Amino acid sequence: MTDFNEPEAKLEALLDIINSSAHQAIAEYKKTGHGVPNTLALKKAIRLLEGAYHQLSSILAPPQHTVMNLVFNYNWACTGVALRARLADVLDQYPEGLSVDKLAEAVNLDKVKTARVLRALTLMGCFKEVEQDIFANNRLSLILKSTNNTGCYAGLHSQDISKYAGVVYETMIDEEFSMSHEVDKAPRVFALRKEGISMDHYEMMEDDEEKRDAFHRAMLGQSDMLGASAVLHHYPWNDISSVVDVGSGIGAFSTPLAKMFPHLRITNQDLPKVMALAQNAWEKNAPVTETSLGGCVEFIPINFLEDAPVVGKDVYYLRHVIHNWPDAEATTILRNVRKAMGPNSRVLIHDFVISHTLQRPAVGTNGLSVAPEPMLPNFGAGNHNTYQTDLTMWFAFNSKERTLEELETIGTAAGLALTQVYDLVDTMLIEFRIA
Ligand SMILES: C[S@@+](CC[C@H](N)C(=O)[O-])C[C@H]1O[C@@H](n2cnc3c(N)ncnc32)[C@H](O)[C@@H]1O
Repeated sequence: MTDFNEPEAKLEALLDIINSSAHQAIAEYKKTGHGVPNTLALKKAIRLLEGAYHQLSSILAPPQHTVMNLVFNYNWACTGVALRARLADVLDQYPEGLSVDKLAEAVNLDKVKTARVLRALTLMGCFKEVEQDIFANNRLSLILKSTNNTGCYAGLHSQDISKYAGVVYETMIDEEFSMSHEVDKAPRVFALRKEGISMDHYEMMEDDEEKRDAFHRAMLGQSDMLGASAVLHHYPWNDISSVVDVGSGIGAFSTPLAKMFPHLRITNQDLPKVMALAQNAWEKNAPVTETSLGGCVEFIPINFLEDAPVVGKDVYYLRHVIHNWPDAEATTILRNVRKAMGPNSRVLIHDFVISHTLQRPAVGTNGLSVAPEPMLPNFGAGNHNTYQTDLTMWFAFNSKERTLEELETIGTAAGLALTQVYDLVDTMLIEFRIA
């Protein structure tokens, strides 16, 4: 036993995982031959790689160092500056690079401060310093261009969610907020009340077209970031004829689904103003001629807290919908879906799934992946997105990501039985049928 307090065999095993997962990732790139492979195999390799190297580093680095790493992290603030000032858009016009002075002048910011932001981000691999004080875009900073939907998703976090996160402890000791799990007692509400704003998230978007547009673009970005298209490849869509996308947004899921499976009859359902946006987005992104959709897609407004979706379809798909709501509302939504189901209909909840760091047994047999030893069974930092999104849900909606057991419980309360789990890395697809 050495000072790092762990058997050396454990360190060697983590090194082996780092080595083999990095090689798996390289093999994926070679197999694809161009661009970034949009495969589950790459995502699985990265989940192992990130989980194992964080675990190894936290064993070997002095603990003070690792703890300070947790808080010495202003990357979100610097990313927010880059996004709002549109630094990547400007640099895009200068593939060979632009001096930081000229860049700062172009976006009307102080050059010394702009340079500090860029240096902090460049250190993390976002932007490239091609010569001293001359910066250019690279594969990471291109995501921050104003046209990129994942940049829009990053903007939502660097501006709005970070503000809600800033008051979290205050909400935990506030008499009115501390013990509540209601949507109207979320840290978001606490933070915005200070600014005199009292509308809920979706009400606010009803009145603000720019915010609504940005939010729905962010949802497309989240979908890209998660490689959510894996659901297109790992569910038997060919055996299905009709799909209702419940809380569809502007079609981040249903548009690629229609393109890949033109035989499907698709119903998009969301709030009325979102349906109007969805129809526009659909006309732009999936013209009828391209998908041979003809009359095969419909847009039907719904308030899913009050009404059931269209009846008797094969699949009712809910992506990132259930996690927006505390248990009572989540159960209401599922009950409403249950009312619309025929005997062979299925519900697919597509969300993140929490598993505890000690959760090793049985769950693996139900589709939930378990990391190899000596990693934490839930992949530790390799599952960063899941646990950060859980906090996002808390800060914004007082809602949460759930464990499989919790999802099963709200399903049961709505008259549904869990039948299948698909591990899509980051997110899971959980199938329910009528109990
Ligand atoms: C987080 S977004 C997910 C959108 C989409 N499923 C996706 O994966 O990109 C949640 C969606 O639920 C919709 N929504 C919120 N409240 C609703 C309600 N009461 N009835 C119907 N849709 C609602 C929102 O408009 C939004 O599009």
